[in-house]
Amino acid sequence: MNIPPSARLLIVDDESVQLKALSDTLSIEGYSTTGFTSARRALDALRDQEFDLLLTDLMMPEMDGIALLTAARAISPDQVAIVMTGHAAIDTAVKAMQAGALDYIVKPFRLNIILPVINRALSVRDLRRTNRQLEERVRQRTQELEVANRQLEAVNRELESFSYSVSHDLRAPARTVLAFSEMYMEDFKDSIPAEGLPILKHVEAGARRMGQLIEDLLALSQLGRQPLLQGRVDLDPLARRLIEDLLAKEPWRRQHTTVRIGTLGHCNGDASLIEQVWVNLLSNAFKFTRERRPGIIELGCRTDGSATVYFVRDNGAGFNMEYAHKLFGVFQRLHSESEFEGTGVGLSIVHRIIERHGGRIWAESDVGKGATFHFTLAADQSTPAEDQNVPADESCRTGTPI
Ligand SMILES: Nc1ncnc2c1ncn2[C@@H]1O[C@H](COP(=O)(O)OP(=O)(O)OP(=O)(O)O)[C@@H](O)[C@H]1O
Ligand SMILES: [Mg+2]
Repeated sequence: MNIPPSARLLIVDDESVQLKALSDTLSIEGYSTTGFTSARRALDALRDQEFDLLLTDLMMPEMDGIALLTAARAISPDQVAIVMTGHAAIDTAVKAMQAGALDYIVKPFRLNIILPVINRALSVRDLRRTNRQLEERVRQRTQELEVANRQLEAVNRELESFSYSVSHDLRAPARTVLAFSEMYMEDFKDSIPAEGLPILKHVEAGARRMGQLIEDLLALSQLGRQPLLQGRVDLDPLARRLIEDLLAKEPWRRQHTTVRIGTLGHCNGDASLIEQVWVNLLSNAFKFTRERRPGIIELGCRTDGSATVYFVRDNGAGFNMEYAHKLFGVFQRLHSESEFEGTGVGLSIVHRIIERHGGRIWAESDVGKGATFHFTLAADQSTPAEDQNVPADESCRTGTPI
């Protein structure tokens, strides 16, 4: 490090001749020197202004170098100091170093001895100063980030409660439109003109869809409001039950859907929310493999460092990875309603739940070949089973072939 020789040195020595000789020599070397024969006056000077280095004699009648150093560091905690001592006092010099002196030099000394020692002390001083500035910047930045974080959380809460109240309040009118259009079609079915019926059916379908969107939005906005109920969740029975439920809803799928369930073990989290994650991912896997013969759905987990990565893989329609960043946004869909039904909220719910559990989720896909969704939970929230892969031969199969 380059130390400018204009560094300010405070020199204290009760012997005025030595003090003057040293001050003059170091001034000639380009340092700015201030000298005192009295330690107390040196301390007064330290209170008034900053010095880059304190160069003090050890043995002084009024106040010794150690006491001076201790007092100086009470005024300026980063004060760098070098103690000058006679041969006989090396033990005391060691004590001075314990009190915070950076180095000591034994008197009498030559210029070529003291200059490198001064330079090293000034380098240390510079490092300490930079360090302190960096610490201060980190502290300030952390504070700023904490404030920004708190503001973001508040905005988030506001947004959540806004979307909660909006969706909550929209529910009733949407239901009214649906109920009354159904009622009208039922009660006046004979008098509705033939051209009018399809229009009414559009109204009914629109109201039904709006109702579904509102319900989904409500479910999403409720997620941030409810506290997490942490507990152990056994994933293997859960996965089997969910697969059975899905197959029961579409019994024909048993004919040509193969489901392979690897050993999942258990995780810690909010049981109903974790279940929702699996429900949404598995529903998607079922939905997007509907056209496949056979449809293949695999679920399992693997260990990645300290985290367990769970996955749901299918060989269905897949999606274009170019739009993968949209997957977890509310109402974002990569397929049209006519191809695959849905409101585009399922994955945003999954994302929010995983986020609340300290994990992350991502997906990969090939159009026409299928998709895989991976997610983690916070490291201490998942405990994988010993066997974390999906072994083809031991795979659990449901459906036919089961
Ligand atoms: N397994 C999958 N294979 C292919 N595309 C998928 C898969 N899962 C999700 N996607 C794409 O991501 C979009 C968003 O999924 P998401 O589950 O949020 O909504 P959705 O299934 O369309 O509707 P819902 O709100 O009823 O779940 C889907 O519309 C689809 O385009
Ligand atoms: Mg979905």
